[in-house]
Amino acid sequence: MPRIFIARPIPEPAISLLKKQKGFVVDVYEKDEIIPRKELLKRIKGADAVLPILTDHVDKEFFDAAGPQLKIVANYAVGFDNIDLKEAKKRGVIITNTPVIEAAESVAEHAIGMMLALAHRMVEGDAFAREKKYRGWSPNHFMGFDLKGKTLGLVGLGRIGKLVARHALLGFGMKIAYTDLTRDTDFETVFHAKFLSKEELLKNADIISLHVPLLASTKYLIDTAEFSLMKKSALIINTSRGPIIREKALLRALRTKRIAGAGLDVFECEPAIDCDLTDKLELKSFSNVLLTPHTASATLEARSAMSKLAAANIIAVLAGKPPVSPAK
Ligand code: GLV
Ligand code: GLV
Repeated sequence: MPRIFIARPIPEPAISLLKKQKGFVVDVYEKDEIIPRKELLKRIKGADAVLPILTDHVDKEFFDAAGPQLKIVANYAVGFDNIDLKEAKKRGVIITNTPVIEAAESVAEHAIGMMLALAHRMVEGDAFAREKKYRGWSPNHFMGFDLKGKTLGLVGLGRIGKLVARHALLGFGMKIAYTDLTRDTDFETVFHAKFLSKEELLKNADIISLHVPLLASTKYLIDTAEFSLMKKSALIINTSRGPIIREKALLRALRTKRIAGAGLDVFECEPAIDCDLTDKLELKSFSNVLLTPHTASATLEARSAMSKLAAANIIAVLAGKPPVSPAK
């Protein structure tokens, strides 16, 4: 009887789908919290399939604890930087992720929302209104800028980057520039987009939005040298992974007004919002920083589709079939 362990009570339909499979024994971690490591290592012992979330590290210790019968780890996430793919391959364990279009749509909407909120200074305005400071319309209060006509610089042109470009161009009449390892000339034609080097993009963009996976080559892609190239009026949006930006460099850029603001859904030392609290510089102390707690894909549409796909991967692999969406 195949044993499946699910590391967090995720949204439906995965749990019902798996429980409905004949002979499947499904064990779900009860609490809506990150499963403590010790508990995770204990509960995966003897499992044929594990469904972890992106805060669970799937490494040598994990595979040792699970045992040699483990066939699939179906990550409930688009990103899979929490998984040691090499180690999985060595042991013949299949790794899958959930790159559903609904998650890409959700993250793209979130990134656009952050741009609008920062450019129109909505969060600062909201705080002001709540603090009962509003004394009537002012010609000068909370002066922001329109997205229209501004240059959006996309770092990474995967599905999410392309969706952001679509909304920015068709919705707001922004100009699109992008940088990536490869050029996409069809995209350039359709979106009147400019392919630039990272340096040129950082110099020219009014809003920079990051859409790359976290790899050894993308860690600290945005560091002090990169901030020094940006316009002083630039905004940076990160809905990818925290360590793409070196937090210390970002804090310095904010403190010295090197840039105009940041929208962050992910953090270098997640789940901590700030890596270092001893330096007295906190992201939350900046009113021009918008913080969301890694919720860019937190829509019912995205999380349900991710759930369905994670279950489909487990069902396929345990039936001896190829996975639906192998991590790659
Ligand atoms: C969320 O960050 C994901 O990778 O799905
Ligand atoms: C997200 O789903 C992506 O493929 O970029």
